[in-house]
Amino acid sequence: MKKFRVGVIGGGAIAQACHIPGFAAAKNCELVALADPDPKIRKMVSEKWTFARQYSDHASMLAAEELDVVSIGTPNVFHKPIAIDCMKKGIPAMLLEKPIAISLAEGKAIADAAKKYGTRVMVGFSHRFNAYAQSAKAALDKGLIGKPYMIRVRFAHTGPFPGWAKTDWFYNPKLSGGGAMLDMAIHGFDLVQYYLGPVTAVMAKAATLRKKIKVDDNNVTLLEFGNKALGYVETGWTSPSGYCGVEIMGDNGCIYVDYNSKVTMVVGARTADGKFEEKTSVLCDKMNRAWDGEMAYFTSQLGKRSKFCVGLPEGLAALKVALGAFKSSQTGRRVAIS
Ligand SMILES: NC(=O)c1ccc[n+]([C@@H]2O[C@H](COP(=O)([O-])OP(=O)(O)OC[C@H]3O[C@@H](n4cnc5c(N)ncnc54)[C@H](O)[C@@H]3O)[C@@H](O)[C@H]2O)c1
Repeated sequence: MKKFRVGVIGGGAIAQACHIPGFAAAKNCELVALADPDPKIRKMVSEKWTFARQYSDHASMLAAEELDVVSIGTPNVFHKPIAIDCMKKGIPAMLLEKPIAISLAEGKAIADAAKKYGTRVMVGFSHRFNAYAQSAKAALDKGLIGKPYMIRVRFAHTGPFPGWAKTDWFYNPKLSGGGAMLDMAIHGFDLVQYYLGPVTAVMAKAATLRKKIKVDDNNVTLLEFGNKALGYVETGWTSPSGYCGVEIMGDNGCIYVDYNSKVTMVVGARTADGKFEEKTSVLCDKMNRAWDGEMAYFTSQLGKRSKFCVGLPEGLAALKVALGAFKSSQTGRRVAIS
């Protein structure tokens, strides 16, 4: 069996939780090269996984190696230059973390380069690969709750640092481009568009409510969809998760995705005699580890020509909503998304 030669760029938290174990578990991949400027990170990775070679920067890795696939899990500001360097080198497949970039111009430059150099790119929207989100999507696609007209999303945790990321770069606007909005709400912006279609306008407030940091730690975004639907996404870095999930209302019922519990669907109709008949069912009660699903899918698609199920168009669509939300927050105005 052909083994795809893997280069991992950025060996921090997401690489160690998702990218590297995913590649290591895939029978069709071999861990060839790791690029990370931090020797502590390189040592930490080598205590658990064996890469043939390690580099302190992606440029020397690209100069020395012939790779079939790379993953990019660096601070957000480096996504664009590193992604484009890999594309220029002719690497055919890439897993690029979200947000794909920190500005629309950068995001478009990545998409243009992918087209020019023929790179297949998957974006790390891991929520799509959790069993709960997938069961809701399947029910929606089957029309089980009719046409959706309202969606709400809440994701929260206590913040990326300390506890998750290897340094506090998430709190440095020059490295991150923004706080919880670009880190967490962007997952919500991808999911709502996956479920309901394109967001056409936003009104939002991003605020630094609790942490002493220079980026937003909480945000709320009101969404309009062109197809007569509304919604909102609320995310935060300053509380335990509490309620975490997605609720979707449709003509004939609702789906309640509670990440801490299960996915419930309630459908109902009023009968001719005026009675309301309601039926509740559990769509899914076994959560998986979304990152494992994401990597199993990504590695299974290597060597193919088809597009990944979540790629740069979706990465750009979510980024547009996040940047529109920041603009709305700064101006106090509704922002159209095109
Ligand atoms: N999809 C998800 O579920 C998910 C979850 C967390 C983070 N992320 C994304 O993953 C990315 C990394 O976040 P993290 O939590 O792993 O942060 P982290 O701080 O734990 O890791 C970042 C790593 O990048 C390295 N690095 C810095 N500059 C580099 C460069 N120029 N070249 C190569 N490596 C470089 C750092 O040394 C560090 O090891 C971010 O874009 C973040 O938004 C995605």
